[in-house]
Amino acid sequence: MKKFFKTLAFFLLGCLIFSCDQMADNQSATQESTTTETAFYQEPHRPQFHFSPKEKWMNDPNGMFFYDGEYHLFYQHYPDSNVWGPMHWGHAVSTDLVHWQHLPIALYPDSLGYIFSGSAVVDWKNTSGFGKSSQPPLIAIFTHHNVEGEKAGRNDFQYQSIAYSNDRGRTWTKYEGNPVVPNTEKIRDFRDPKVIWDEDSGQWVMIFAAQNHVKLWGSKDLKSWTYLSDFGKQHGVHAGVWECPDLFPINVENSKESKWVMLLSINPGGPNSGSATQYFVGNFDGKNFILDKNFERDVTGEKAVWLDYGRDNYAGVTWSDIPKEDGRRLFMGWMSNWNYATIVPTQIWRSAMTLPRTLMLKKTDAGYRIFSQPVKELEVLRSTAANLENTEIAGTLDLTQRLGFSPSQMEMTLDFEAWDAAANFGVELSNNKGEHYRIGYDASANQFYSDRTQSGDLAFSERFGAKIHTAPRLAQDKAIRLHFFFDVASAELFADDGATVMTDIFFPGEDFTSVKIYAEKGKAKLTGGQAWRLNGIWH
Ligand code: FRU
Repeated sequence: MKKFFKTLAFFLLGCLIFSCDQMADNQSATQESTTTETAFYQEPHRPQFHFSPKEKWMNDPNGMFFYDGEYHLFYQHYPDSNVWGPMHWGHAVSTDLVHWQHLPIALYPDSLGYIFSGSAVVDWKNTSGFGKSSQPPLIAIFTHHNVEGEKAGRNDFQYQSIAYSNDRGRTWTKYEGNPVVPNTEKIRDFRDPKVIWDEDSGQWVMIFAAQNHVKLWGSKDLKSWTYLSDFGKQHGVHAGVWECPDLFPINVENSKESKWVMLLSINPGGPNSGSATQYFVGNFDGKNFILDKNFERDVTGEKAVWLDYGRDNYAGVTWSDIPKEDGRRLFMGWMSNWNYATIVPTQIWRSAMTLPRTLMLKKTDAGYRIFSQPVKELEVLRSTAANLENTEIAGTLDLTQRLGFSPSQMEMTLDFEAWDAAANFGVELSNNKGEHYRIGYDASANQFYSDRTQSGDLAFSERFGAKIHTAPRLAQDKAIRLHFFFDVASAELFADDGATVMTDIFFPGEDFTSVKIYAEKGKAKLTGGQAWRLNGIWH
């Protein structure tokens, strides 16, 4: 009898649990009625080989450094919502720059404020004294953004602070002496510190944005900082606020020369409107950044030189502590734009990073220019491949059957030469809903373009799909190589070995399933090309 009641009790409990589960299921089904797919990283528009947070809001990449076999990536994160809010540093690591492992949130807001953008370094010589054993401490340098101060109408509510880790970045302790750079000048926008070790002057150098210029400060121990110089009031584009600078030395390709590059994000004021990143080339003498003469004219005579002409590469900076034997300058940006970032049509998470890229400095006829290339590690993702032969394109060439895989997750190279002076050629992705995205080169205007004006959902923002985005061609070669990465909701073009780059996102109502090469208003000769289906990184 006792046994019978016990069994009955278990049965009733089982029913209860089952119906609760069902209720939860039903509830999430109603909550997510617009997103039918909920499998891990399989929601509509979810990038398959780009980094995106598991859920909720993300903006700028932060604190990127390499240590003990791991590339660290932190990011601006609000874990309670899919729009911007009190900022934390989310955290992920990778051993190959391709596959990422999510880690717990690294930095939470505290009494000094939200945790805004910043950087991190390996303090190899334990200059900070935060190291405990033979391991060098890891130091994060970030902006504290004090909301109470802001609400009270003060102007000194942003200042620079530090935190350290002695366990391979798994846990972080904020320094009790924060802030390390107070905002004594009372500048409202006073943020985004990037710190480097400058071998020549034997000091840590911090660069951060101060509204319409950047400030450089120096330190021997990362805790006590002194002012070095300002740069930029008279330089570059000033249509918006300056944010997220970076400063680093770099060898000029194929020479013994070395220069300094400053990256500088600006919002708004980008070449195709909204957020974008300009850069400067010059020298750094341990105190001042000295801009090269004649640097500030791009090929169109504009007052800025842009890292990427697409709308969706912002606040990008480079990794610290890449081993000397490697020697690359590795970069990653946030693949969105403040014009519409908070309202793009994704629910579970919002936004992704660009692919990791190698930055190179080359001397061109237009002067020193940064060339960007996808990192070579990405080649591990290549699966099914297709070769394209020498053929003349006049009209369209449908490749869909030939490839035998969906172009929505694809890498592709196309080599063109001998195009007509008026020709307009490129690649078109489309789906059965009649939506399409085009990216290519317009010979009559000598510019590349990305056309998402009919790429799917545009309704969420008037500023998203109104215009075709353009990028002047820098190279003058008689041949053009277009190198593309398409990942469900994004396109990245590295043209002419990375001389011109465009990154754009889009939101088709269903994945793109067809791919065509086209040449309009004239012929273009395709001398060859390759396409690969790329594997996803999350499964
Ligand atoms: C750039 C930015 C930074 C700031 C962060 C806040 O996108 O505005 O200047 O630190 O985002 O999330």
